[in-house]
Amino acid sequence: MAQSDVAYQRCINPDCGAQFDCRESMFKCPKCGDLLDIQYNWEKVPVPKTLGEFGKRWANRNRRLDLSGVWRFRELLDFCPDESKITIGEGQTILQQNCAIAEHLGMKPDCLFLEYEGLNPSGSFKDNGMTAAFSHAAMVGAKSCACASTGNTSASVALYAHSCGLRCTVFIGTGRIAFGKLSQAMDYGAQTVQIHGDFDDCMRQVQAVCVELGLYLLNSLNPFRLEGQKTIMYRIIEGLGWQVPDWIVVPGGNLGNSSAFGKAFAELKALGLIDRVPRMAIVNATGADTLTDLVNNKKLVWNGGHVDQKIIDDYYADLTARHFSPHTCASAIEISRPVNLKKCLRAIDVCNGVVLAVTDEEICDAKALIGKHGLGCEPASAATIAGLKHLLAAGTIAKDERVACVLTGHALKDPNVTVNYHKERQGEFSNPPIEAPNDLQEIIKLIR
Ligand code: F0G
Repeated sequence: MAQSDVAYQRCINPDCGAQFDCRESMFKCPKCGDLLDIQYNWEKVPVPKTLGEFGKRWANRNRRLDLSGVWRFRELLDFCPDESKITIGEGQTILQQNCAIAEHLGMKPDCLFLEYEGLNPSGSFKDNGMTAAFSHAAMVGAKSCACASTGNTSASVALYAHSCGLRCTVFIGTGRIAFGKLSQAMDYGAQTVQIHGDFDDCMRQVQAVCVELGLYLLNSLNPFRLEGQKTIMYRIIEGLGWQVPDWIVVPGGNLGNSSAFGKAFAELKALGLIDRVPRMAIVNATGADTLTDLVNNKKLVWNGGHVDQKIIDDYYADLTARHFSPHTCASAIEISRPVNLKKCLRAIDVCNGVVLAVTDEEICDAKALIGKHGLGCEPASAATIAGLKHLLAAGTIAKDERVACVLTGHALKDPNVTVNYHKERQGEFSNPPIEAPNDLQEIIKLIR
């Protein structure tokens, strides 16, 4: 069956709803400028009757598409032929039940699960999205690509671009990127452009550059990327024996993940593959809390797609007037104009979601807690546990509800934040190194 019969692009604005073939490449609706979604004619897709059917593919891990933790679920993102699919073995991630952190937070010990997306090839969840977007890029014959990034997108783009022979340029804000991530972009051979500005400035420039030079854009404005990120939710459900958790907790930056997760659950429910949709908590840093402010204080809602654009425009005009630039130690989510805002509002609607912001101190303590009892993560990822603490205290999440926190990036992405936290005794879990003379007896005394 021709792929164009199965999937198409559609503008999310209900007053527009323009549709486009998947073989076209654009990152905004050419008619009204709103965001685009990938939609499926599900009756034409051979979707298994139960999610458990996907689990059988574990037996075929010598086949590249069955090995991929994204393409293992390929019928749920059926927008390109198999021969276009680009995979480097992404999505081999672990859902870890973490009793120690649960107990520390006062939860029932078997109720907390951590989804380690840092175990992806480039060390972050981005690879789930890039495998999908690069497959689309291959389908449309793109030769060069670009992205703006707080770091992880650039690392992932650089890795995938290299593996499929695309030229790649990444835009980062000067001094705004963790060293682990910058080192990856350079090592994987990306042309790295440091702009004197923050992520939002880079995001604006990259869109203009892509239009001007005809480059393929890989930010989460790209709707194909979000299709890949849906699979993080499928793997959480898989990790729970094909059951849905009560809550998903995710950090909020450019709001691609939260948007993708909401779409994943809406589709699974409509397909009858799950019987209920979990609730979702999206956690900002207080220094970059646009979503929290707009939703909790300005009461911005999805409203069936009729989002009150004036609230958003006034908010951004005020940021501009104040020369506001976001600041948080969780540099991955240091974003004040999230491009997927509207899709995120839709996800909040689908998942009866809540949003909140946590301080840098809370993020650093939570990160050290995860490091001590789990596999570790970068600061933005730890915003989940910091947020969970608040939601438990407020009674929004009950102690016996099953919660899955998405740990989006690897601990080694941002060693500076970790080393400073411990060496400078910044928090509750600081574990600084002890100075010792080069003398056996003195060393033994110290260890005793
Ligand atoms: N966690 C990490 C580790 C990230 O790198 C990002 C985003 C987020 C959370 C936020 O996810 O945008 O889906 O809400 N990083 C992007 C980048 C912006 O350029 O690497 P989101």
